[in-house]
Amino acid sequence: MSVSSDSRGSWGSKIGFILAAAGSAVGLGAIWKFPYVAGANGGGVFLLVYLACVFTVGVVMMLSEMMIGRSANKSATSAYRKLGGAKWHYAGWISVLCVFLLLGFYAVVGGWTIAYIVEAAKGSIMTTDADQLNTIFTDFIGDPSSALIYTAAFIGITASIVIAGVHSGIERICKILMPALFILMLFLVYNSLSLPGAINGVIYFITPDWSRISVRMVLDALGLAVFSLSVGAGLMIAYGSYLDKQTKVVNAGLWIAFIAVLASVLAGLMILPAVFAFNVDPAAGPGLTFITMPALFAQMPAGQLLAVVFFSLLLFAAITSSISILEPAVAFLIDEYNIDRKKATLAVATANYLILGVPAALSFGAWAGDLTLFGRTPFDLMDFIASNVLMPLGGMLAAVFVGWRTWPNIKTLLLDECHPLVVTFFRLIAAVLSPVLIAVVTYFLLFD
Ligand code: ALA
Repeated sequence: MSVSSDSRGSWGSKIGFILAAAGSAVGLGAIWKFPYVAGANGGGVFLLVYLACVFTVGVVMMLSEMMIGRSANKSATSAYRKLGGAKWHYAGWISVLCVFLLLGFYAVVGGWTIAYIVEAAKGSIMTTDADQLNTIFTDFIGDPSSALIYTAAFIGITASIVIAGVHSGIERICKILMPALFILMLFLVYNSLSLPGAINGVIYFITPDWSRISVRMVLDALGLAVFSLSVGAGLMIAYGSYLDKQTKVVNAGLWIAFIAVLASVLAGLMILPAVFAFNVDPAAGPGLTFITMPALFAQMPAGQLLAVVFFSLLLFAAITSSISILEPAVAFLIDEYNIDRKKATLAVATANYLILGVPAALSFGAWAGDLTLFGRTPFDLMDFIASNVLMPLGGMLAAVFVGWRTWPNIKTLLLDECHPLVVTFFRLIAAVLSPVLIAVVTYFLLFD
């Protein structure tokens, strides 16, 4: 793979691209959301439905975005305009809005992970008392100064990597953090599986209980697959735009999906056996990570060290994703307005922090209850609009664009890499199934 001299930047190697894109996919979705959503949805049956969603609609949407980016060599707005004409460029605006909202709430949770590394190192969260942990967590997220400082720290780390560029910043850091992430996960999986009674968690996680299947559960799996694969926000359009024309996207895309799924499965095997070993309710919800996990670590040998390792792992995963969320907005300014990378990154990061990061960070304390829209805090609203509305919509638009608007070119590209039957299957999912599924999802999310 050649390194282009293009000022936008480019990947140094195919493996670098795969690790960076897998880093984008593997984030809070796989490690924080997946275990508690799988826990609440019956374990094994959720895992199966999730896998089906990833390897059908999920992969097709991801490949669609990657091919759009690679064909146009531009980020979302410019890419849609270049390949589809002026009207399509509004599809790119959806992703600009989406990444801005995503970054707003993502940085807050990223900030929590930094704070929990510090607290775990100090030993202040090493208690088995769930009420006390709940109070620690609620007090922490409700304290305006800590929330603002840690959110700013997380955005600052993200921006400094993006400023360093595609090859020297994003690719280099992912090459270090992704293997580190998997090593840490394997270490924690081993610890979790060694606990007495852990086998019950493994059984729960891999045995499908078909009575738990429901439309809501399928929608949860689909939503998580879209979020987890980072599709629908133009992230993969931007990452695909730094690819050279020789890279085989289908092969790369399947690797990325495989790594993302592997991370989710390892996260399940890391958390659910421990949850069962200590008789915690697997359906405890979003607090499973920040409230339940410290209680588990407090009961484990070398628990304090494991807690530091666990929250560092969460931070690594969050950073390799947040850089991919910031990058499309930076690429947008570079492509559309020819702004220098450093200035573009600083402008987006600062504006994002002031406009969205601050209200998102203060959603749990100072402004909790005072500032709501449709009954949601700024944090919830950003998460809901970005993850549940714009990402599915953006993913559908990418698939429809590829399945209809640019199909002849995409077909040629795909036939180069796959069997004709696979190409037909791809088109069926892109052109027919994706829009139908996403329309159903949107209907249920908005009106159910
Ligand atoms: N794919 C990223 C995550 O799961 C957005 O956190």
